[in-house]
Amino acid sequence: MIGILNIAILGFGNIGSGVAEVLERNRTKIAEALGENVAIRYILDKRDLSDTIYGDRAVRDFDVILKDPEVSVVCEMLGGTQPAFDYSMAALRAGKSVVTSNKEVVARFGDLLLAAAKENGVRYLFEASVGGGIPLLHAFDDSLRGCVISRIDGILNGTTNYILTRMHDCASGFEDALQEARRLGYAEANPSADISGADAFRKICILAAMAWGGLVSGDAACCEGISAVTQEHNAFASRCGGTVKLVATAAREEELLSLSVSPCVVMDDNPLSAASGVFNAVKIAAGDLGDVMFYGMGAGKYPTASAVISDILAAAEKKASERPRLFTAYPYPLVDPAEWRTDYCLSVRCHRDALGERLPAYCVLHEADGVLDLLCEDISKKTLLEAMAGIEVLMLMRAVV
Ligand code: HSE
Repeated sequence: MIGILNIAILGFGNIGSGVAEVLERNRTKIAEALGENVAIRYILDKRDLSDTIYGDRAVRDFDVILKDPEVSVVCEMLGGTQPAFDYSMAALRAGKSVVTSNKEVVARFGDLLLAAAKENGVRYLFEASVGGGIPLLHAFDDSLRGCVISRIDGILNGTTNYILTRMHDCASGFEDALQEARRLGYAEANPSADISGADAFRKICILAAMAWGGLVSGDAACCEGISAVTQEHNAFASRCGGTVKLVATAAREEELLSLSVSPCVVMDDNPLSAASGVFNAVKIAAGDLGDVMFYGMGAGKYPTASAVISDILAAAEKKASERPRLFTAYPYPLVDPAEWRTDYCLSVRCHRDALGERLPAYCVLHEADGVLDLLCEDISKKTLLEAMAGIEVLMLMRAVV
């Protein structure tokens, strides 16, 4: 007779209810894949859920779940750091694997939770925390394990990508596009984390830790959101041959780690430019493998639920003693964003001749009415601005070439 894998879901919002629905819809397929039926034994929520088919499984006391030896996987979909962190830690210490979509907890406490999982012979898995439904983190554990990764560029926030796409394609206003993203269930309960870039910053910190093992925690000092993006930025990007996207980048050279989240000009021939609307894309410079890109739905109920379910299966199948994933706290200071050598597009009011020898190398992308749009590669923002002293800089954005 086929066995039963009992799980508990913490939080029955957009993602939690999506997990329950997809488990039900794909019941046969999941049972075939796992060799067991997945049963939702408890749902922890503030509501009694009597208006759903799960009313008989609703609990408000986490101890009920913790003390039930039949529950082997806890799915934490609460959002926020508390009580999500305490519940996750308690579950791991009680010998239960934890699966989460909560990037805030992973980015802040992933090192502690992974260590606790290892100590207790269980798993802490968070595929749904980055890139929504894209199967990304397991690739770091498996296919990319032997690759020397030097850089990760990602469009990691579906809400801001949706807003920027609407602003570009339909000349929509920022507020209208944000309301639409909220209606579609992409935005956070408080969308300021989306708009400010904090959500993308948490995700790039998680990806950097997956690539290099060190988890950077703390404030997103090198993080700029999209609230200042206007149609003028779109026009500038288009003259440069690209579009405006919020790009999160992690680049590593020896012990020097640069992290950045900012609106960028993504050039049209870069594959990241294909990610529009709620889609996310992550491009990884993976040494001998070369560049590899992951693409898919970066937010939304069912894509994210699919990632959670893939982790439920992984938690049930694999023993934690096989290659446990571990993060350490990242021990070095980050590279000062102004000193980071990368690529920039800028618009300056001057004649070509006035540029003279100011810049080591640049390329003129567009010229009209005394305004030059330039691409400068492999240069720090500080050096670039020093070189432009006395010239009116109308626009300056990081470029992703
Ligand atoms: N608010 C997030 C986004 C949800 O828009 O990407 C997925 O993490």
